[in-house]
Amino acid sequence: MYMKTPILAPSLLSSDFSRLGEAVQKIEKNHGSWIHIDVMDGTFVPEITIGQPVIRCLRPLSKLPFDVHLMIRNPEERADSFIDAGADYLTFHYEACSDPGKLIDHIHERGIKAGISVKPETPVSVLEPVLEKVDLILVMTVNPGYGGQKIIPECIEKVACLEEIRRKRNLGYILSVDGGVNEKTAGDVIRAGTDVVVSGSSFFAGKLTLADLTKYAG
Ligand code: DX5
Ligand code: ZN
Repeated sequence: MYMKTPILAPSLLSSDFSRLGEAVQKIEKNHGSWIHIDVMDGTFVPEITIGQPVIRCLRPLSKLPFDVHLMIRNPEERADSFIDAGADYLTFHYEACSDPGKLIDHIHERGIKAGISVKPETPVSVLEPVLEKVDLILVMTVNPGYGGQKIIPECIEKVACLEEIRRKRNLGYILSVDGGVNEKTAGDVIRAGTDVVVSGSSFFAGKLTLADLTKYAG
């Protein structure tokens, strides 16, 4: 089966936060196509990371799309401010939002792409109401909150399932995989049909490169 090389979306979460500008340069130099920015609110997940002011400061440093992953409660209350700060893709969690369809419509009205993410224990069936309108589905393959965790292999089946639904119904969403992807696990998520590979710890340790993704495609 033909597979195209996925988009590499390195996550700033695993970079040195005192040198975020250099991390952006490293992503550009090492063939990252998107910049994945993990926003944590200390409530939906335990830690607090990057907010709108930091994204605003990073925005002029790169033309690469900012793939903003909101791990926050009530994302509808803050979506506008993240769009204003420079997000190109704004992804929120199904589990954190009371009306995902409405938020997707709102993000579209603001002129950017909308993504939805599911935690490992959330079945993909909950996404049915939004499959026709969402631009991106971010399948979490670890529990959100921390970089450097081991992939949960069962979650890879969710990617294959969403890819099959997309193919059979000719839908247009992009599939992205986030958590525990390294040079050993990349092949499994690519074969399952992901279009985007998010990588934090392996990318910044210099262990996962675009070449690792390319070898599984073609
Ligand atoms: C986890 C984040 C991920 C994380 C991935 O909550 O959403 O983006 O940074 O890091 P690795 O690749 O180290 O699992
Ligand atoms: Zn993420």
